[in-house]
Amino acid sequence: MASSDQIRLLLVEDVPQVAQYIRSLLNSQAHIKLLDVLNDGSKAAAAAQQLRPDVMLVDALLQGRIKGPALVEQLQRERVGVPVIMLTVPQNPVQADPERGIEAVLSMPFSGYDLMNKVTAVHQAYKAAGGVGGSRVVSVFAPKGGVGKTTIAFNLAVAMGQQGHRTVLIDASLQFGDMRSLLKVPVDAPSILDLPTDRIQESDLQDVLWRDPSGIDILLAPPRVEMAEMVTVRDVDKVLSLLRRVYEVIVLDLPAPLSDINLAFLDASDTILEIVTYDSTTIHNTIAVADAFRSIGYPAAKVRYLVNRADSAGGISPDDLARALGRVPEHSVMSDGMLVVQSNNEGLPFVLANPQAGVSQDVMRMASELMNVGLVPAGARR
Ligand SMILES: Nc1ncnc2c1ncn2[C@@H]1O[C@H](COP(=O)(O)OP(=O)(O)OP(=O)(O)O)[C@@H](O)[C@H]1O
Ligand SMILES: [Mg+2]
Repeated sequence: MASSDQIRLLLVEDVPQVAQYIRSLLNSQAHIKLLDVLNDGSKAAAAAQQLRPDVMLVDALLQGRIKGPALVEQLQRERVGVPVIMLTVPQNPVQADPERGIEAVLSMPFSGYDLMNKVTAVHQAYKAAGGVGGSRVVSVFAPKGGVGKTTIAFNLAVAMGQQGHRTVLIDASLQFGDMRSLLKVPVDAPSILDLPTDRIQESDLQDVLWRDPSGIDILLAPPRVEMAEMVTVRDVDKVLSLLRRVYEVIVLDLPAPLSDINLAFLDASDTILEIVTYDSTTIHNTIAVADAFRSIGYPAAKVRYLVNRADSAGGISPDDLARALGRVPEHSVMSDGMLVVQSNNEGLPFVLANPQAGVSQDVMRMASELMNVGLVPAGARR
């Protein structure tokens, strides 16, 4: 079975016999993959952030520092965004209560059939209800400058926000962060360097993020070029896992070089939205990057190509482009010099300035298509 069809399960269980029983039930099938068994509830939220399971199975009678019900509360408070099935015994009845984060209850004794059915049903219901089984990171990237990365990242993030997803945009062009000038933010506006490095509350984020009138939050790049190097590869993982707790979507505006920092952002991304244009050097670089991504081990489905200014072909045909890329690009956005340049100059997203325009419709369609793409399991991202 393709790994993307597998349901990834995280079990929080401190009774070894029960853990062993569940393991043995799952051993003989490929539909559900048991990612890990945790016997300590206090580690479960962090593990869920890291492993991004589709479903968690939590023993209601968990002992230790964090009991079962407290763990469910914590998962909900930290917006981990993973549906939970509570495991219990008839003497300790638990009610399913999706409002409080308990999607379903599984009472012992149960068969392999009961377990499989429950996990599958919860996963499907959660997906159908719009839960994505975790937040997603979308990097807007191109191995070439000036192809529209910043413009697309900003408008895509706003479109996703408009479609009801809690969205943050990170200006990951750390040296020459374009969002500062695009949005005309004051020089002393805080940046990625001002994020606390350990535990973070939503209230801490309030002070660091730029709350744009367009409805999205933006984590700005440092205000000065030389400050970019203060952001390390370790910070990248930290920042993303902190933001994943609060936001459903994280959109990154990345610069062109395949630097260590950029690769860290790309590694951590669920989807790389790679911009190509009808321009021979851009296409050449795109093919070179596809090779590099293949040798790093990124699955092909991690990259989605976006043809920007798709109606300005300049002598190269769509067939030539598809042949060069090895596939038909998944998305395209038309050219609209008047609207795009004017909106950028005013620091406004064109998707709000003129939602009816073709270019806005293209970006909005892409936003909903990207939200409907299944998440690549963390282990398969590279
Ligand atoms: N679909 C479009 N139609 C018309 N103009 C566009 C379109 N997309 C981008 N542009 C214009 O192209 C120029 C470059 O865009 P942008 O700054 O977003 O590119 P970038 O890839 O972020 O550049 P850099 O590599 O410098 O960060 C801008 O003037 C922008 O207005
Ligand atoms: Mg840019």
